[in-house]
Amino acid sequence: MNKIVINADQGAQKISKHIYGHFAEHLGRCIYEGLWVGEDSPIPNTRGIRNDVVAALSKLEMPNLRWPGGCFADTYHWKDGIGPRSQRQDMVNVFWGGVTESNHFGTHEFMDLCSMIGTEPYICGNVGSGTVREMSEWLEYITMPGSSPMARLRRANGREDPWDLKYWAVGNENWGCGGNMTAQQYAWEFRRYQSYCRHLGGKQLYKIACGQGDDWNDVVMREAAKFMDGLSVHYYTFAEKWERKGAATGFPASEWYSTMKNALGIEDFIDRTATIMDRYDPAKRVGMIMDEWGTWYDVEPGSNPGFLYQQNTIRDAVVAGLSLNVFNRHADRVHMANIAQTVNVLQAMILTEGPKIVLTPTYHVFEMYKVHQDATLLPLVLDCDRIEEAALPAVSASASRDAKGRTHLSLCNLHIEKEAELEVELRGLPAALKGASGRIVAAPTMDGRNDFAAPNRVVPKAFEGAKVEGGKLKLRLPPMSVAVLELA
Ligand code: AHR
Repeated sequence: MNKIVINADQGAQKISKHIYGHFAEHLGRCIYEGLWVGEDSPIPNTRGIRNDVVAALSKLEMPNLRWPGGCFADTYHWKDGIGPRSQRQDMVNVFWGGVTESNHFGTHEFMDLCSMIGTEPYICGNVGSGTVREMSEWLEYITMPGSSPMARLRRANGREDPWDLKYWAVGNENWGCGGNMTAQQYAWEFRRYQSYCRHLGGKQLYKIACGQGDDWNDVVMREAAKFMDGLSVHYYTFAEKWERKGAATGFPASEWYSTMKNALGIEDFIDRTATIMDRYDPAKRVGMIMDEWGTWYDVEPGSNPGFLYQQNTIRDAVVAGLSLNVFNRHADRVHMANIAQTVNVLQAMILTEGPKIVLTPTYHVFEMYKVHQDATLLPLVLDCDRIEEAALPAVSASASRDAKGRTHLSLCNLHIEKEAELEVELRGLPAALKGASGRIVAAPTMDGRNDFAAPNRVVPKAFEGAKVEGGKLKLRLPPMSVAVLELA
């Protein structure tokens, strides 16, 4: 029997909606085909951006979208992506398949996409192969309301008013693809670059520095914490390890559990990173920005190895659910997270094939979990069964209360065979618990998924099976499932 006590009278911490952020890189078929098809495409679009994908993403209430990379960001020269499309200079996408990048999707198109979806832009600037001037001019182009060279250029390209922008990263993975820098070198570069990162409309930019390993984070925090608002870290889940990522479908039970174990490792990573951040920022002003996370498997057979296209199954849904539970519970330090990536790349929300789209099990988890956005975290105590053969907890959970006073509990059952019997106590409320309703995503097989032939195999269903007995909620969670319940 698994027991959960939700301390309904102890909520103090807000879960930033930005934990539910997304990431779209110029990688494979994420931007081109996935989001951008061009104005002349037979696929229904608005100013080149596909309507079906925008409609689906809008339902997630996406708080922010990170762009243009990833590793691509430190190769990207923004001026190549503005002006008449037919005159834009192309480039080689050196990190992702060596393909030619047309630069047809640039700043204007990205901002247009964000406003169609109703999400905030989060832009990552180029440190690795860029200059301070290039970065500061990009900000001038986006934010300058009055007269200036970059504001005039923006107007000449058809945009009168500056755009709204808050989130700005100074480079990506600068310890690796973003310039192979040392921590000290990056810390100094960050201090210099950020000095010229300004919002010229008078608003405050939220400046994000590159972090990652413990030693790196220690140096960057020590040297530059006072100049940053956020520290970016990445955490990917492999079925085994980087060198043996494993298949996205058709995997054995051992890989279900090794994936779960690796995914749960994100909590230890957050704790370690937070400990280092606490050293230099005990007031927790600087946010931990988990701006790349998710599963990373072998690419689908026959697809371009540089395009990182993978299927998405109920295993990914459970990884998404338990990771979001971890972020919710660490909302004091984790201020933003961005799953990688939105369409057709890694743990995607949406897969496309020509005019067809498929919403993945991960999409449905994000859609169900949106109730936690900007809600108050309710601390809970989970006393749960172990999956002995895998040395793992069987259940993952988090709870919150939203602005309307509604309490939500999100749950994952990690077991591949056993249902989880749960007893939930809601402590600290004047009124007794009456019942619970909600939705659940589950599948009969470990790699249960949606595809273009059957796009609705794994979709949320009404959760039946919760009853109140003796003031406590009793429920049964099927194996391999993710549920979000409203407790009444
Ligand atoms: O998301 C794919 C890649 O993973 C990103 O470009 C990079 O930042 C990370 O290594």
